[in-house]
Amino acid sequence: MKVADGKMLNIALPKGRLGEKVYGMLEKAGYSCPEVLGDSRKLIFESPETGVRYFWVKPSDVAIYVERGAADLGIAGKDLLLEYRPDVYELCDLHTGKCRMAVASVKGFRDDPGRTLRVATKFSHIARDYYAGKGREIDVIHLNGSIEIAPILGLSDVIVDIVETGTTLRENDLEVIEEIMPISARLITNKASYKFKNGEIRALAEALGRKEV
Ligand code: PRP
Repeated sequence: MKVADGKMLNIALPKGRLGEKVYGMLEKAGYSCPEVLGDSRKLIFESPETGVRYFWVKPSDVAIYVERGAADLGIAGKDLLLEYRPDVYELCDLHTGKCRMAVASVKGFRDDPGRTLRVATKFSHIARDYYAGKGREIDVIHLNGSIEIAPILGLSDVIVDIVETGTTLRENDLEVIEEIMPISARLITNKASYKFKNGEIRALAEALGRKEV
């Protein structure tokens, strides 16, 4: 049975390993779509039979598509939701893409509470909130990647970053000093989609919940 175009679910998948894993979960839950995992350069895939249209976007752009209604649903890491604070609803924790947000530095680093702490990070909001909660004054140095280099070269005292396997820290002689929070992937939607495609969205979220791996 084909689904009418107005009721098709537009789903923004984050390019990369997490998106591929979540697509696998969606496929098992009954929302398959031919060629999504093929190695073409195509970005949009449609399956009228299962009522879904998938598109691959940069992980940090998923919430923008959902917030502005270009996507009904998306998969985004809790780290990006906390950092960019998009106006979206979190439907469920997908219990995948698990990692930790943590403070790290060179081995043996000792914080001097008398001095402003220099914090290098891609996650400025998360870092500010975390240290504000501790009443600690910080100087945020916003970087876009390879954050681990900052304390090694003396650009910062510590970093606030994602730790998944811990390999990047280990191979650069850094260590976790404090854990800020656990992170995992979330299924998100927007207010209008949730209202007008409520049945379809809830059915998908429930099917996905049952197929969690
Ligand atoms: C992320 C994060 C760490 C690394 C952690 O980097 O910023 O550098 O992964 O993973 P691990 O604990 O398994 O080593 P990403 O690959 O996103 O690159 P970038 O931050 O340099 O852009």
